[in-house]
Amino acid sequence: MADEPLILGIETSCDETGVGIVRGHTLLADALASSVEEHARFGGVVPEVASRAHLEAIVPTMDRALAEAGVTIADIDAIAVTSGPGLAGALLVGVAAAKGYAVAAEKPVYGVNHLAAHVAVDTLEHGPLPEPAIALLVSGGHSSLLLVDDLARGVTPLGATIDDAAGEAFDKVARLLGLPFPGGPPIDREARNGDPGSIHFPRGLTAPKDLAAHRYDFSFSGLKTAVARWVEARQRAGEPVPVADVAAAFQEAVCDVLTAKALDACRANGIETLVVGGGVAANSRLRALAEQRAAKHGIRVRVPRPKLCTDNGAMVAALGSHLVAAGVAPSRLDLPADSAMPLTVVSV
Ligand code: KG4
Ligand code: ZN
Repeated sequence: MADEPLILGIETSCDETGVGIVRGHTLLADALASSVEEHARFGGVVPEVASRAHLEAIVPTMDRALAEAGVTIADIDAIAVTSGPGLAGALLVGVAAAKGYAVAAEKPVYGVNHLAAHVAVDTLEHGPLPEPAIALLVSGGHSSLLLVDDLARGVTPLGATIDDAAGEAFDKVARLLGLPFPGGPPIDREARNGDPGSIHFPRGLTAPKDLAAHRYDFSFSGLKTAVARWVEARQRAGEPVPVADVAAAFQEAVCDVLTAKALDACRANGIETLVVGGGVAANSRLRALAEQRAAKHGIRVRVPRPKLCTDNGAMVAALGSHLVAAGVAPSRLDLPADSAMPLTVVSV
C-alpha cells in the first residue's frame, strides 16, 4: 500500500554490503556487493579485508538500491542498520553510513539485531509472522532456537550451539573435501549425487543424557571431527574419498538434528509455526526435511527463498519496517556498532 512507510535497510556485519528498500512487506530493492571472493583463498572471512570492501561498496550499493526502487533518499521514511552482532570494523562502516544519511536527509534511524533481521525477512515472502513462533536461526556465525512472542520487542533464546555454528561446520567440512568457500552451496550440490545412508555420522547432543541438559542446544564440532577422521582413514588406506557420499551423509546429520530439535521446540510449546532463517536455511535438504517432518505434526514451516536467507539489506529493511509498524521508537544518533549484541535485544 502506498501509504505504508518506506524503509531502507543497511547490512554490513560480515562480508556482504547490502542495501534493501521495502514498503510494508513489499520488497522494492535488494542491492548487494559481496567480498566473498577476496576471502576464498583464506578459507574464511578476513575482518580487515571485509571492512575495506564495505567502505568501497557502501555508497555505490546505496545508489543502486535507490535507483532500483525508483526513489530518492528524501522519499525514505526511516533508515534501519545492523548494529550487531558481527565483525566490529565491518559493522562500523554500515552504522557510520546510516548515521551520515540520517543526519543529511533528516531521517530517523533504527539500529537493529542481525539475527532478528534473519527472522523478519520471511515477512517479505510470506506476510506477517504468526506469533508466537519458533525460529531456527542457522548461519555462519550462529545456530539458535528462539521463541518469538513479539519480534518487535524481544525474543527468548531456547538453545544455541555450544561449539561450532552449523554454517561453520559446512565451511570446515567443505575444506576437508577440497570444495570451495563458503562450503554450504558446494556441499548442497555434491550431496544431490551422494547416498546419505552410506556413512553414519554422529548426531551431537541427541543422546538421552545430553538431552537432559541440552534439549535445544546444538554441537557440530564432534561431527566435523568424525568426518575428518573418516576422510583421513580413507586417504591413509590409499582409497579415493567418495566426496558426494561424505557430503550427503554429513548434510543429513546436520539437517536431522536441526529439524528434530526445532520441531521438538514447536511441539513442547504448542506452537504451529516454524520459521527458518540464516545462510544455512538456503540448504535444500534442510528445507525438504523440515517440511516433511513438520507436516506430520500439522506444523507450518516458513523458509524464505535462498537469496533472502544469506545476508542482505532487505532483511534489515524488513525488520525496520516491522519496528515502525509496531510503534517502536527510533535509536539515538549515537547508536553503537556492537559486535557482541545479545540475541534478546531486537533494536537499540
Ligand atoms: O547468514 P549468512 O549469509 O552469514 C552469516 O551471518 O554468517 O550465512 C553464511 C553461511 C555460510 O557458512 C555458508 O556456508 C552457509 O551459510 N550456507 C549454506 C548454504 N548456503 C549458504 N549452508 C548449507 N547449504 C547451503 N545451501
Ligand atoms: Zn547472517
